[in-house]
Amino acid sequence: MSRQLRVKAPWWSLLAFCLLFAPVRADVPGSNAVASAHPLATEAGLAVLAAGGNAFDAAVAVSAALAVVEPYGSGIGGGGFWLLHRASDGHQVMVDGRETAPLAATVDMYLDADGNVIPKASIDGALAAGIPGVPAALEHIASRYGRLPLALSLGPAIILAEQGFPIDDAYRRMAGFRLQALRASPGASAQFLVDGELPPSGHLLRQPQLAGTLRRIAREGAAGFYRGELAEQMVSGVRAAGGIWQLDDLAQYRVVEREPVVVSYRGHRIVSAALPSSGGIVLAQALHMLESRPVEALATASRVHVLAEMMRRAYADRARYLGDSDHVEVPRQRLLSRSHAYAQARGIDPHRATPSQALATPRAGGEDTTHFSILDRDGNRVAATLSVNYPFGAAFVVPGTGVLLNDEMDDFSAKPGAANAYGLVGNAANAIEPGKRMLSSMSPTFVEAPGRVTILGTPGGSRIISMVLLGILDAIAGYAPGDIVDRGRFHHQWLPDRIEVEPGTLDTHVIEQLRDMGHEVEVRDSRYGNMQVVQWRRFGGGVSAASDPRGIGAAAVEPAD
Ligand code: DON
Repeated sequence: MSRQLRVKAPWWSLLAFCLLFAPVRADVPGSNAVASAHPLATEAGLAVLAAGGNAFDAAVAVSAALAVVEPYGSGIGGGGFWLLHRASDGHQVMVDGRETAPLAATVDMYLDADGNVIPKASIDGALAAGIPGVPAALEHIASRYGRLPLALSLGPAIILAEQGFPIDDAYRRMAGFRLQALRASPGASAQFLVDGELPPSGHLLRQPQLAGTLRRIAREGAAGFYRGELAEQMVSGVRAAGGIWQLDDLAQYRVVEREPVVVSYRGHRIVSAALPSSGGIVLAQALHMLESRPVEALATASRVHVLAEMMRRAYADRARYLGDSDHVEVPRQRLLSRSHAYAQARGIDPHRATPSQALATPRAGGEDTTHFSILDRDGNRVAATLSVNYPFGAAFVVPGTGVLLNDEMDDFSAKPGAANAYGLVGNAANAIEPGKRMLSSMSPTFVEAPGRVTILGTPGGSRIISMVLLGILDAIAGYAPGDIVDRGRFHHQWLPDRIEVEPGTLDTHVIEQLRDMGHEVEVRDSRYGNMQVVQWRRFGGGVSAASDPRGIGAAAVEPAD
């Protein structure tokens, strides 16, 4: 048959044949794509894909590489959420590698004798650190979903830690911001500074102890981190620095597979993070409100007003109701119901801002963090947001291990109504309890439509959810990844009661109109977020990817052989 074609058919009929039958392959992307916050991490992901790995192996490689080259954002001493889609059977799951509170943690551990929050106690140093989840999650993803051995996917990270990488201005900016705290930890100072000072741009940063720890994980799996010699070293290092970890904390750490939050919205299926991330629920509420009160046809000021009012209401419920559902009752069904959101939307005055105090109040009383998006040639996908919380986490490296610890304990509500580092308030639902996971805003997300899939997410603390909301709306409106990551952003989180706007996003007269409606509008002096997007258009357009121009990341699409 093919011989006949070659002999008899004119050249253009072959071309027509190819064009006609090309859509048959629309069931798989045929290309690999990675968008991450650092070019070397993107490269690590592509290398593992080229070696025959799938998106899940690449996610392990990118996570581990980011732990080395973007230590201010995430790391093996931190946690995260990996949202997975397996193409072969459509299985979707959120791998929850969030940190847990140590077993010796107490509800008032960051309060002084008068019940006031002790400044920085949950931000700097060993006491601020939750029990890390990343090593357990990487092993889980590699063994359950990957094709390659964990050791192979950790390879690029080990090389980067051992041989070093040239530091850039983003590193210098973040390390500069955390300089005092880094200096206070001899381990952190030795690993991230040069003689206690910021290393110059281009300095080759080698992290041999971290390489040793990664090698141990490659050899022994997660057990090499959570048990034995390294665990003992971490516990004694943490305790010597005023922390409260015990060997049991590490031995008992477990990754949890959670069913993602799924929302149907105008012919699209939005798949996002489940508790202990607040992201999926807050997004669902906002999207349901939008369904009952569309904003597309509104003039800019009215559109921003209504969206900000929706954000205000959804974030107010976040503060009031959300926490780790393995430890507290969360009225999930009600919060995810259309009736609740529609009622909230009905309360929005089209011309006036609702003062935040008029909504529920708590009862009783950048670029750090990181996101990457991956799509492989077969259609497997990963959206992952990982964190050590504040830039360089707790700024504490356990001596001898190279492990930089998170300060995720600050994501708990240290006291009802007291704001955390991102201005977020909470109450009993997010109070500290031994073994509990602190509420997060990290929202790795898929936006699915019959002909198009978009994989997205971003760091940005409390602003993550509003950024992802705007990203989802842009994806639905048909924007390409390059536009989605670049467009201006605005944010409302209930408290503080104001709309924050990126510079250059809204015209002065729009800002005036919003102020006339009763909004406080703060135009920030810098842009925020670091969104990473991969998109696959099945019927024309193919695979494309983009990394936020606010960051130093890289996105790449490589046709598979
Ligand atoms: O889990 C959370 O919501 C926070 N720890 C994330 C922190 C973050 O995104 C910082 N980035 N600017």
